[in-house]
Amino acid sequence: MKILGIETSCDETCAAVVADGRRVLSNVVASQTEVHRKYGGVVPEIASRAHLEALVPVVDEALEQAGAGDVDAVAVVHRPGLIGSLLLGVTAAKTLAWLHDLPLVGINHVESHIYAGCLEREALPFPCIGLVVSGGHTSLYTCDGPRSQTLLGATTDDAAGEAFDKVASILGLPYPGGPSIDEASQRGSPKAVHFSRPWLGPDSLDFSFSGVKTAVLYHVRGYGAGAKTRRTNLTEQEVADVAAGFQECVVDVLVGKTLRAAEVCGLDRIIVGGGVAANRRLRARFEKETAAAGLDLILPPMPYCTDNAAMVAGLAYHYAQGGEVAGLDLEARA
Ligand code: KG4
Ligand code: ZN
Repeated sequence: MKILGIETSCDETCAAVVADGRRVLSNVVASQTEVHRKYGGVVPEIASRAHLEALVPVVDEALEQAGAGDVDAVAVVHRPGLIGSLLLGVTAAKTLAWLHDLPLVGINHVESHIYAGCLEREALPFPCIGLVVSGGHTSLYTCDGPRSQTLLGATTDDAAGEAFDKVASILGLPYPGGPSIDEASQRGSPKAVHFSRPWLGPDSLDFSFSGVKTAVLYHVRGYGAGAKTRRTNLTEQEVADVAAGFQECVVDVLVGKTLRAAEVCGLDRIIVGGGVAANRRLRARFEKETAAAGLDLILPPMPYCTDNAAMVAGLAYHYAQGGEVAGLDLEARA
């Protein structure tokens, strides 16, 4: 069964074709990074208009690369995300489904980030602990199957990716912030500046990164920085050290709580998904600490961590098989 997936929840226009839930036949992403760079963040209205321009060529490209003939269903992310952006993908998917008389599947973006770890694998890796770390979410789940998650903990304020992006802005690092912090940290020492770890109590599986972000802001202000102008008086080395100290703090908490969740739930496998799962330090620490604890770790390859439609088309297979298809009244939800 071949499924065309469409994903437009934020600022990437994505289309992919996946066979039988796991074999990726094409995975096309048109990034809007350049469009939003001068604003230092995603401007929702501009994102919607860019999706409108990119959607048809991106879908065409995905179908062409996949090569082999027709698809059997159309899947689309309809929640959560920027409402204007979601509407573009949902409208395109409905139109294609109606025109070609194909089943339509509505997909939850966060669920699909966990499913990214299942692509190109022989067997489905359930049950496991799932951690989604993206620009909008930081959530821990127990996952019993592709369509079955139970929330264990989530962010009480900023998502991890959001904290990365805002700290990069405070430090005057280029947009997009997450990859910039990752890059700057390579030249810094994680021990030079210590930020308190927000554990939120010994048993908590929730997250909070806004305090660390504020701690970075006050640390930088201590150097006489003009926060409004986004310029700092820190040397390049000091910026790298603060970036590395911040990153280490976030990574400590993400890895620590995920391993604790595995212990509490008695599960020996972990899937990590979402844009922040592309972070090199996070990947290295997860690899080291799961190996030491004898846990099985699934870290999707980079193109399946950040937003993409292969994870959407893959997950949709399981919904289609279970008969869970949507009508043409499928709604986008912010
Ligand atoms: O999953 P994603 O592509 O979109 C959302 O669903 O939000 O995640 C985007 C987030 C952004 O906050 C971005 O800065 C962060 O992922 N990100 C990273 C890295 N690459 C992307 N954060 C830290 N290190 C990276 N290498
Ligand atoms: Zn995402």
